[in-house]
Amino acid sequence: MSSTTLKIEIEKATSSKIGQVDFDNLAFGSVFTDHMLVCDFKDGAWQTPKIKPYGPLSLDPSAKVFHYGQAIFEGLKAYKSNDDSIWLFRPDENHTRMNKSCVRLQMPEIPKEIFFDGLETLLKMDKDWIKKGEGNSLYIRPFMIATESCVSASPSLEYKFMIICSPAQSYFKKGMSGVKVLFAEKYSRAANGGVGFAKCAGNYAGQFYPTHLANQEGYHQVLWTDASTHENLEEAGVMNVFFRVGDKLITAPTSDRILDGVTRKSVIEIAKDEGLDVEVRPVTVHEIIAAAKEGSLKEMFGSGTAAVISPISGFGYKGAHYDLPEIENKFADLFKKRISDIQCNKAKDKFGWRHKVSV
Ligand code: COI
Repeated sequence: MSSTTLKIEIEKATSSKIGQVDFDNLAFGSVFTDHMLVCDFKDGAWQTPKIKPYGPLSLDPSAKVFHYGQAIFEGLKAYKSNDDSIWLFRPDENHTRMNKSCVRLQMPEIPKEIFFDGLETLLKMDKDWIKKGEGNSLYIRPFMIATESCVSASPSLEYKFMIICSPAQSYFKKGMSGVKVLFAEKYSRAANGGVGFAKCAGNYAGQFYPTHLANQEGYHQVLWTDASTHENLEEAGVMNVFFRVGDKLITAPTSDRILDGVTRKSVIEIAKDEGLDVEVRPVTVHEIIAAAKEGSLKEMFGSGTAAVISPISGFGYKGAHYDLPEIENKFADLFKKRISDIQCNKAKDKFGWRHKVSV
């Protein structure tokens, strides 16, 4: 975390929108707090960060982000515990990953003090938007876009780094009994040597059409397979994926095609701490179908900041559908509880993952 005190220009909103928000019925990512952080990069340097009222941006139509998709983002959450203290979960991981995305997309890295001092100042100003109680959090979306006005196909000379915040509950619709995923047979999310590991905007845009087709078949997400053989299960639309076969927990290793999820790595560390049998290795479509057929596939679940731990209730492949055993979310429930208890300051943080925001 940052130890310097950075100069930040602050313009406060004249009134708050908070009274108009129904915090019990939030559609993920659709409501934003009163303020946002904006920091411009120009003339080869990051300028003074500003916190200002949340609102629209004015950009030239030739800004490179519109033409070449030079855009990256992150996702992390803030939590409020019963004593009103505010906590972030492994925020250093997000900063480090954001800078890896910057390098891959030829964008300038974000200095630690801008990321952390900017974020903490923003959280202090909008702290009333963080609600206590199980399932409540403030979803934080840092992002960076290329703003240079020029349509030559080369890296932008100017950028905007921003942080916006949205009160959140669950990512998937309330009351949904489980996520249904369709194994990818034709389309691909990422290729060797590509940008799959980076959190760049295009990785998500490229999924929308195949996901729309999967939705038409009754599936919520595509579970991506490797682009060259479509034989290995990699990650789903907004989450990494875990399988419980018998009592063994299995997940694919990260690579240049797979996002290095913060929740994913936390699940693996907790599983080891629980003494579970964990295998991080390629997971094939065929072994999972065989396990489903013989009844040893007990659970599948997704992990992610937005998705938290989301049980998967069934999957489709080549026209066949496989349901997972009902109410067999033993591992998913265990990881969700252990992670949420750490996030909300309810349990001892033996891993040192929790960061207190001084408000
Ligand atoms: C997150 O979980 O933070 C993500 O970035 C996934 C997202 C596209 C909602």
